[in-house]
Amino acid sequence: MSRIAYVNGSYVRHAEAGVHIEDRGYQFADGVYEVCEVRHAMIVDLTRHLDRLDRSLAELRIAWPMDRRALVHVIRQVLKKNHVRNGLFYLQVTRGVARRDHVFPADGTRPSIVITAKNTNPAVIAAKNAKGIKAITVAENRWDRVDIKTVGLLPNVLARQAAKEQGAAEAIFIDADGTVKEGAATNVWMVDQDGTLLTRPADHGILRGITRTTLMDVAARVGITIREESFSVEQMKAAREVFITAATSICFPVVQIDERTIANGHPGSVSQKIREAFFDIAEKTAI
Ligand code: PDD
Repeated sequence: MSRIAYVNGSYVRHAEAGVHIEDRGYQFADGVYEVCEVRHAMIVDLTRHLDRLDRSLAELRIAWPMDRRALVHVIRQVLKKNHVRNGLFYLQVTRGVARRDHVFPADGTRPSIVITAKNTNPAVIAAKNAKGIKAITVAENRWDRVDIKTVGLLPNVLARQAAKEQGAAEAIFIDADGTVKEGAATNVWMVDQDGTLLTRPADHGILRGITRTTLMDVAARVGITIREESFSVEQMKAAREVFITAATSICFPVVQIDERTIANGHPGSVSQKIREAFFDIAEKTAI
């Protein structure tokens, strides 16, 4: 079965899909994106993802490529054409195609839009949840507007690659003051000795993850106390439990950070409880 992508108005074979060589996303990383999970043929938290897309576009003064209803229609089409039941879609909007020049192109330049979709393997995700993952820490070296979900991800790419080369699945950015920021593509959480769940406040220092926001609803429902509070790398390594969240993985337990084993080295009960309740509470939109 061949994969299908949506590129600037057309559904095309994924293998042959392409954008112009002077797309500003390609030349300047001048664009934004969203990744959204699909489970049991339901799009998870679509409204929140589109609201965040709206914010990212507004922050960079890029116009919507089409109206929101039309975009939802196209997303559904891409998911259907790729027969996605459990997987994700990736959506990217850039400032469009123009002769290379740092300043914004002329008014009326059409933003570019690409949407792709793929199935993921639930067995691989289940195995990671059962075993937990290893993470490394790296020094924060990104700009201070990581709250905007831009495609400018070079520090994240290098951090993830460093993790991989050390046998880890995620790299956690640590601020100059020793506090934990977020993962290369995830938000980070810890459970303290009192059983309180801590996560960094979503100011300009991290991306306000959609999974993070929904997890707060879930925690309230299952009776887990949350505090939005910065914590140090030492606190994190001494935690009862650490986990990371993202739309692609929901909630992976972290059982080792650098050379330090977290708690008893096994996934904790809080992440499991949250994972089990997550889909009941998240918004679900049928494809
Ligand atoms: N990344 N922080 C960063 C830096 C991220 O890139 C992501 C998501 C998150 C979690 O956000 P959400 O819960 O909305 O997925 C936090 C996506 C999945 C990616 O780049 O593939």
